[in-house]
Amino acid sequence: MTQPFKTRITELYGIRLPIIASGLMWLADPVYVAAVARAGLIGFMTAASFPDVQALRAGIRRCRELSAGKPFGVNIMIRVSRDGTDRVNPLIDAVIDEGVKFVETAGNNPEAYIRRLKDAGITVLHKVPGVLRYVKKAESLGADAVTVIGFEAGGHPGTEPVGTMVAGVAAARAVKIPVIAAGGIGTGEQLVAALALGAEGVAMGTRFLVSEEIWAHRAYKERLVAAGETDTTMLLQSMRNHQRALKTAHVAMIQQLEKTEPVDTAAILPHIMGTVGRKAYETGEFEKAMLSCGQGVAFADRIEPLAAIVDRLEAEARTAMGRLQGIYQESA
Ligand SMILES: Cc1cc2nc3c(=O)[nH]c(=O)nc-3n(C[C@H](O)[C@H](O)[C@H](O)COP(=O)(O)O)c2cc1C
Repeated sequence: MTQPFKTRITELYGIRLPIIASGLMWLADPVYVAAVARAGLIGFMTAASFPDVQALRAGIRRCRELSAGKPFGVNIMIRVSRDGTDRVNPLIDAVIDEGVKFVETAGNNPEAYIRRLKDAGITVLHKVPGVLRYVKKAESLGADAVTVIGFEAGGHPGTEPVGTMVAGVAAARAVKIPVIAAGGIGTGEQLVAALALGAEGVAMGTRFLVSEEIWAHRAYKERLVAAGETDTTMLLQSMRNHQRALKTAHVAMIQQLEKTEPVDTAAILPHIMGTVGRKAYETGEFEKAMLSCGQGVAFADRIEPLAAIVDRLEAEARTAMGRLQGIYQESA
């Protein structure tokens, strides 16, 4: 197999292209993550999507069977639980026991967990919003690499609207660990641009939602294919839980609820429960849910196997590199 790009990220994971398929609630399951692995990238199964730890363990084994010996990882959301229940350590126990080598952490500060993961020999990628102090914190806590998310991203891009083009270069200049740029990235041209910014890889979520290996309903994927760069919106700012999602009737209704003074959080909560989104993925009734989606949906232009998407990303990156070589001439 050719190795078109060599960066500290391809070295860290032993992958062919410096592209990470980040965790996707409900969707990054063993079938999808194994397809990512076989395509020469690394993907992270979302631990929170499994009903319990036993199911997560079974998922890890299934992913290993399907991955043809290629690397894959698990995404662990660091949460501070309101009732004091520790929901993170049981997941860490499972990944350690099952011999998982790569973990992506996201959400809150991973300080209380990172040592355990590192002591077990696990490579830790921590994902942060595009604000420098979080990037530096990830490095100081001992993360092996950091993903910095710009405001274009699907899911939770953080509370500050800093775009990927700014966040990526600022992060790469600020830390010594390898930086992965994310948010709105869905083409090979953007991969090359991210490498030029000083990042050593990119992470994508939205771009891969239209892959055949994502189990969600075809009607939902067809909506994504039709969607352009203006078809996402931010919501949940009133709860300081900023989220970028596909514009739907359900999202418009929540945005309306957010306009009341004072905001009635209790009225909003039932509409943003994960199970509402899961049902929409099953039925294809996307208008009835809040579904994370980034501006890179503009590049999700057909439903096809994940490997075909990766082939296109690689071809686009090659063309972009060629174009750059034609532009820049070293003066004699
Ligand atoms: C449908 C969807 C679900 C997501 N679920 C999670 C999740 O459970 N955990 C997480 O860390 N990030 C989650 N994310 C964020 C992605 O991991 C990734 O950071 C983001 O998609 C990158 O930006 P992009 O969508 O512009 O490519 C989700 C994103 C999407 C689009």
